[in-house]
Amino acid sequence: MATSIKASVLKEIRNGSDHVSGQELCDKLGVSRTAVWKVIKQLQAEGYDIEAVTNKGYKLLSYPNILSGSEIMSRLSTTWAGQKVYFHKETESTNDDAKYLAEEGMDHGSLVVADCQTAGKGRRGRAWVSPPGEAIYMSLLLRPDFSPDQASMLTLLMAISVAEVINGLFPDLKVNIKWPNDVLVQERKVCGILTEMSAEPDYIHHVVIGVGINVNQKEFPPDVEEIATSLRLCHGEMIDRVQIIVGVMEYFEYYYGIFTERGDVSDFVHIYDGYLINRGREVRVLDPKGEYTGVAEGINDKGELIINLPDGSATTVASGEVSVRGIYGYV
Ligand code: BTN
Repeated sequence: MATSIKASVLKEIRNGSDHVSGQELCDKLGVSRTAVWKVIKQLQAEGYDIEAVTNKGYKLLSYPNILSGSEIMSRLSTTWAGQKVYFHKETESTNDDAKYLAEEGMDHGSLVVADCQTAGKGRRGRAWVSPPGEAIYMSLLLRPDFSPDQASMLTLLMAISVAEVINGLFPDLKVNIKWPNDVLVQERKVCGILTEMSAEPDYIHHVVIGVGINVNQKEFPPDVEEIATSLRLCHGEMIDRVQIIVGVMEYFEYYYGIFTERGDVSDFVHIYDGYLINRGREVRVLDPKGEYTGVAEGINDKGELIINLPDGSATTVASGEVSVRGIYGYV
């Protein structure tokens, strides 16, 4: 369920500089005093340290490090991205949940978040292992009114948003993007993005952008430990997942606004290229018509990867798999 009164009460007492009176909460949120009191009790039971002073009101003294819909919504300052959060302790796949919500008519910007996925999906039919308590699994529902051939750029916007958040919070870490949509820290993958679209040839019904971020894992299974890492492993300390989710929503809303105004990624090609690990590196393009190698130069306004070929010409890759020498074991 999308959280509402609880998140609103939490937001008010979180943002209040001093005690926020019960009456003020009732008036602002249009609910009864009993409803406010019940919510305060629930929050206290969840570990929020809320001081209740007669004739003064409520003050949030400290809050627990928990992942919940109300915690996310109360910390967001977006207009639409993540304004409705559907939180699951456990679900099969947040992408599937978001697709279901899309069919049910849920709003542009609705966000599904789970603590654990039992059937998490990666790209190319792979599984995305999703144990509880450590990582971020979230899917953002979009209802764009642009044409389906622009939708692939949304994945790039999400990759930049994740990279910007990590870079902002941990400036000492080396943050990169592997085109089009893996985010790497210290040259290992911390984030994968799975974008799924329902569309007619000239009309998008909806797009779901699924994001998996390795946050607090302390180790990885042997088959991926060489290529994957977590923010905690790189930074050395436990990290608040909500802070990352909130940051990603804020950046995404910002970049989405620029993108929809422009119709392409021209305004932030330079930012993307600044993160691009493939830049200046030899890449192998796994084209169904034949594999070839070249040197990646950057992206163009449509988000395609520009590749300089050995004969001096250049080509672009719109989709498909690009392997980078030195990354993910390809040498
Ligand atoms: C990749 O293969 O790199 C993409 C991984 C995407 C994983 C995320 S986790 C949240 C969302 N729900 C899913 O089932 N998959 C995506």
